[in-house]
Amino acid sequence: MRRAVCPGSFDPVTLGHLDIVGRASAIYDEVTVAVLVNKKKSSLFTVEERIELLREVTAHYGNVVVDSFHGLLVDYCRTKDIPVIVKGLRAISDFDYELQMAQMNHGLAGVETLFMTTNPLYSFLSSSLVKEVATYGGDVSGLVPPHVHTVLLERLARV
Ligand code: PNS
Repeated sequence: MRRAVCPGSFDPVTLGHLDIVGRASAIYDEVTVAVLVNKKKSSLFTVEERIELLREVTAHYGNVVVDSFHGLLVDYCRTKDIPVIVKGLRAISDFDYELQMAQMNHGLAGVETLFMTTNPLYSFLSSSLVKEVATYGGDVSGLVPPHVHTVLLERLARV
């Protein structure tokens, strides 16, 4: 079975993430969306909430599973027997850091990284920007799945 992982913080999942996950699911037999548990980084949604949202929005793919991981991504890949990381590249500004991580992950454990160019519709999109724009009342309804949009507005109204 050909497996790949799409790792990230997904706080929350955007249409940009979903575009990459969906395209990866067409190439691999099984795609794991892996949410990093990072206690040092403050987040709007808990890991459990992020996983639940991801499960909802990826359910229709049939070959996508959602999980969380601690520590090094390559250790998670080794445990789950996943040889490939799939990442979206939005712009040249992503490239430097992504290249470093890809080379490090390959050097550490031989795990390959496949970069997909993001759909230009989402090349400016990030979870952080979605949260910032939504915080100040900007319309992000075209940037996240409908249920995520609802939950995001509810959460922001409470913080
Ligand atoms: O959505 P993000 O926050 O940009 O995702 C970054 C992520 C989770 C892919 C990256 O930080 C990661 O892989 N972290 C796990 C820790 C690790 O393996 N670090 C070494 C990378 S070479």
